[in-house]
Amino acid sequence: MGYRQVHDRSLSDPEDFWSEAADAIDWERRWNNVLQSGEGPFDRWFAGGMLNTCHNALDRHVDGGRGEQIALIHDSPVTDTIERLSYRELRDRVALLAGVLRAHGVNKGDRVIVYMPMVPAAAMAMLACARIGAVHSVVFGGFSSAELAKRIDDAQPTMIVSASCGIEPGRIVEYKPLLDRAIELAAHKPRATLILARPQATATLVEGRDFDWHAEMTAAEPAECVPVEATDPLYILYTSGTTGRPKGIVRDNGGHAVALAWSMPNVYDVAPGEVFWAASDVGWVVGHSYIVYAPLLIGATTLLFEGKPVGTPDAGTFWRVIEQHKVCTLFTAPTAFRAIRKEDPRGELMDRHDLSGLRALFLAGERCDPNTLEWAQRHLKVPVIDHWWQTETGWPVAADCLGIEALPVKAGSPTCAVPGYDVRVLDDNGHELPDGEIGAIVIKLPMPPGCLATLWRADRRCRDAYLRRFPGYYLTGDAGIRDSDGYLWIMSRIDDVINVAGHRLSTGEMEEALAAHPMVAECAVFGVRDELKGELPLGLVVLKSGSGIDEDQLRAELIQQVRDSIGPVAAFKLVAVVERLPKTRSGKILRGTMRNIADGKSWTPPATIDDPVILDEIEQALTKLGYPGR
Ligand code: COA
Ligand code: AMP
Repeated sequence: MGYRQVHDRSLSDPEDFWSEAADAIDWERRWNNVLQSGEGPFDRWFAGGMLNTCHNALDRHVDGGRGEQIALIHDSPVTDTIERLSYRELRDRVALLAGVLRAHGVNKGDRVIVYMPMVPAAAMAMLACARIGAVHSVVFGGFSSAELAKRIDDAQPTMIVSASCGIEPGRIVEYKPLLDRAIELAAHKPRATLILARPQATATLVEGRDFDWHAEMTAAEPAECVPVEATDPLYILYTSGTTGRPKGIVRDNGGHAVALAWSMPNVYDVAPGEVFWAASDVGWVVGHSYIVYAPLLIGATTLLFEGKPVGTPDAGTFWRVIEQHKVCTLFTAPTAFRAIRKEDPRGELMDRHDLSGLRALFLAGERCDPNTLEWAQRHLKVPVIDHWWQTETGWPVAADCLGIEALPVKAGSPTCAVPGYDVRVLDDNGHELPDGEIGAIVIKLPMPPGCLATLWRADRRCRDAYLRRFPGYYLTGDAGIRDSDGYLWIMSRIDDVINVAGHRLSTGEMEEALAAHPMVAECAVFGVRDELKGELPLGLVVLKSGSGIDEDQLRAELIQQVRDSIGPVAAFKLVAVVERLPKTRSGKILRGTMRNIADGKSWTPPATIDDPVILDEIEQALTKLGYPGR
């Protein structure tokens, strides 16, 4: 069957389509209904069914004869180590870790926050939670204590699993002081923490609250898999929205396992036993789905890489890893390729490695500019697939499904809707737009399995954020076009979300951080185009009268303020002081116009502007920062 037939079938009879896909999973008890409307914001998949995700990711492969196959390769150029764990070793360690969690009072439904660098222990912590039906919530290591504290208060974890440090090029990031500060800031206090001591940094443990990973593992009894309802939560993953309050995306167990297991052969064309590498971080959805769960669910080998595309030690690292571990498929963000291309424009480092085992490169996380796509195609000589999805969906919405039928690539488009997704483009009034016209990209309900179940303890917020705008449709937050061949073109966000090096960030949250500075009267943050990171946040602040402070010092304080409040990952380094901000007569700040000025796009003052002269002042301030043209 070709792509169109498979896609049509998935929409005309979703229950039949997904119940067939569910045969790839071991069920403790089969479901009553494939698709059922429930009390939550979305329809529920496989209600009444029971399974265990960890059993499906590990134990059943050991029982089925893959015990000695490598399940996980940890390649860490920053520590100069490589570790390989077989399915049996990984299963045994996860079972012990699950025993540790349980001994500390973690039970089914309890939350566990995982604040870890890219080490196998991070994946083990996730799987150990799944094993006992606990709900993990991984927090990316580049977030600050304040962000971690927000997540602690929202998820209310029984336990936190962390490490003494992460390793960034040129510096050791000590996690324990960050964690201690977060616990201090949070109103909710976890019962215990489990700390993995790494040789690069020691961690001071608080007696009675903090426990040493190695000591606890030595004393632990392994825990068996606990069957859970298909609709029970597997994890919460926080992502940026419009405000400073992150959204806790809730993923279920059953639909998630089915969708991810289906995606591996059908979207990525990867089979059991092959080596799949998602060069991302377990703190992001790509890491959840394609470093940890999907490859293991099908019995493939996953690669967990602790390094960067450049500088660890050079722009040839990716090629060394692909050759050394026989990677068949690589998944990363376009930024990584832009960084590599900048250092090695002719691909000379690539030529030094045998990449004959590589079959495809998948890119996602941000818009892929055609230059980057073409450069990768020219040098790798394999299909380069731009595909589009988001934390909420958990797996691709639009992609060239290599395992079904490779469609012709159109540079700049992530191809067509993946089977299961009914993607439409609507105008402001909710009417479907003709092909080629830009509008809000939405997904007609029901969403396929694997997508968000709700926001953690916030059904109403979930409805308001995703379902209220266009009843019957899920609002993706992206604007774009569908062309006459059914290809999607993702153009921009319709909210305050920006994408910095494939990391999703909220400008609203950065504005909140700046506004907290005692000298700031008002401010605006918007994304400006950046050759390497795709976008960078740029802030303009208006000071309270009589502030009288040295501007350089103030700028440094503001940058530090955002770093302390959100974290280094915000990459907030561009800020200028202005006299006034441009606004409409009703008081709305014209961020879009300022963004166009900074990006060097043609712009005209909107008819509703209060005072057009302000835009000249803004232009001067942006010029001082090097925009446009930086
Ligand atoms: N823990 C602590 N700090 C972290 C961190 C982590 N896990 N990850 C990033 N940071 C810090 C970095 O050290 C940096 O701090 P600095 O301002 O002190 O230098 C800051 O956060 C920004 O990091 P990053 O976005 O990684 O930028 P970079 O300039 O260090 O590297 C790239 C640039 C392009 C190499 C890098 O962004 C990259 O590899 N991108 C790939 C994107 C990706 O994997 N996206 C995931 C979605 S698929
Ligand atoms: P995240 O939730 O962090 O995965 O970010 C999701 C957002 O990143 C999407 O809503 C898009 O705005 C953007 N995005 C992800 N992949 C792509 C892509 N292939 N093309 C364009 N934008 C993308």
